[in-house]
Amino acid sequence: MRDPSDSQTNERSGTSKLVPFPFSKGVTVLEQDIILQARSIYKGYPGVQALDNVDFELRQGEIQALVGQNGAGKSTFIEILAGSLSPDRGEIEIGGKVYNHFDPSISIELGIQTVHQENQLVEELSVAENIFLYDLPKTRFGFVNLPNCVETADALLKQLEIDIPSEKKLTELTFVERKLVSIAKAFSRKAKILILDEPTASLDRKGREILFDIIRKAADTGLSVIYISHHLGEIFEICDRVTIFKDGFKIDTSEVKKTEMTSIVQKMIGKSSSTLAVHKKANISAEDADTLEVVNYSRGDAVKGVSFSVRKGEIFGLGGLVGAGRTELARMIFGLDKKDSGKLIFCGKDITPVSPSDAIRKGLGYLTEDRKDDGLFLIRPIFENISTVLFTKVKSMFMDLKKEQENTAIVSEQLSIKTPSIAQFVINLSGGNQQKVVLAKWLHAESEILIFDEPTVGIDVGSKSEIYQLMDNLAREGKIIIVISSDTPELISTCDRVGIMRYGKLADILSGDQITEENVLRLSMGVE
Ligand SMILES: Nc1ncnc2c1ncn2[C@@H]1O[C@H](COP(=O)(O)OP(=O)(O)OP(=O)(O)O)[C@@H](O)[C@H]1O
Ligand SMILES: [Mg+2]
Repeated sequence: MRDPSDSQTNERSGTSKLVPFPFSKGVTVLEQDIILQARSIYKGYPGVQALDNVDFELRQGEIQALVGQNGAGKSTFIEILAGSLSPDRGEIEIGGKVYNHFDPSISIELGIQTVHQENQLVEELSVAENIFLYDLPKTRFGFVNLPNCVETADALLKQLEIDIPSEKKLTELTFVERKLVSIAKAFSRKAKILILDEPTASLDRKGREILFDIIRKAADTGLSVIYISHHLGEIFEICDRVTIFKDGFKIDTSEVKKTEMTSIVQKMIGKSSSTLAVHKKANISAEDADTLEVVNYSRGDAVKGVSFSVRKGEIFGLGGLVGAGRTELARMIFGLDKKDSGKLIFCGKDITPVSPSDAIRKGLGYLTEDRKDDGLFLIRPIFENISTVLFTKVKSMFMDLKKEQENTAIVSEQLSIKTPSIAQFVINLSGGNQQKVVLAKWLHAESEILIFDEPTVGIDVGSKSEIYQLMDNLAREGKIIIVISSDTPELISTCDRVGIMRYGKLADILSGDQITEENVLRLSMGVE
């Protein structure tokens, strides 16, 4: 990170609206200083008590993790702090004043900045305009001062060491870059409390390093951070304390240094973590050897001549760094994107899909890494969402709707989607539970060949193991499963073989005992 005194350059540039630079304050950190205290917070929705008598305290300069299973109430709690939701009861004390409810402007006034679970950015605008959306620098005549906006945004991004030119349109950015823009946006105003709701769910390794660096430096200058994540490893890496929510209750707050991961998991799910891992060993006969053949897929520099075969009943992993070409490959296989070459052979027959709907009819399923693009109908009930793929597949007007509803209820239960009813609209579900609905719809379509792209991003530890169990069951039924994952432990515990992609090529295929964290990383990064 650069020298904080860099903020001077900003003053010199004579902007009409100064950017309060994040790390320039030199505040003395008194460890025990409580900056925010929430008391007896209640929030209910029809059929769900999202928060039940929650007490919470945040110290100045601390990074406090907030963990809990999907639907535990984490996002609800921070939306209350951000002022976008009102609690039914309870009070929040901040800066010596007691509030019964906030609205977003009070929250911002008090120095609370939030990076939401889902990006709240405007597609049509540039990075710079997004960063200063509510605070655009103006010219003397009241117009938006775009050059100034770009200059100030560039300076902010530079200080945060985020390498994105701020005049770029949002549509030109990758997933990872969008998340980094959301994070930078939180630093566009002076913040005392920074709230991050699952920021790393859509970040790669590099993005995560950038973020952690920002968080640590910011906390050193006295900023307090509430950090929500399902990756318990991250909590041990950067957090001082950890608070656990379960079913709307606060279960515990403790010092990370004095806590073990297993005890956090136990408090989150109420069972021991040793029961979580599922190790799979497929028993595959010789004649199943080449059930699915992926032959010579290529497109430009993104994917270069990738071939491999997957057996019936096998879970085949695709590892590699973000950008290695795995998602591009999957999209071509599924008929979503154009390709220069490539054939898909199933049981000796050419089934190369020409479009996604052709792929679905031919028995393919593809769970994309982006649940929002994946056709979740947010203001429709869960059961309708789960049925959509099956409808495309059977194309029948004569489906037994009642039976269909019962069946979707079974899938919903298998994935433990937390909801009072499958008639609930998807928009009312927690982030992780929305992800499960996407998964459910592919499981329900009973595809023969399933491609899962980062299936457990945003999913809590308990449900993760249920999803692994389901994948395992599907493989045992003879389905073919390809899993793209950046979570190496996930590849190790679920896959029979793992192909590693690097710069668009399939670098190597690991099997059995060769699938280790070290080998996966070594091959991904091209270390000999
Ligand atoms: N607008 C809403 N209407 C009805 N129920 C809701 C609404 N928003 C949240 N809920 C419910 O409140 C509970 C808490 O949800 P919340 O989003 O706070 O969970 P979370 O801990 O953030 O989970 P995740 O890890 O999946 O993001 C869930 O059962 C959810 O379905
Ligand atoms: Mg959430």
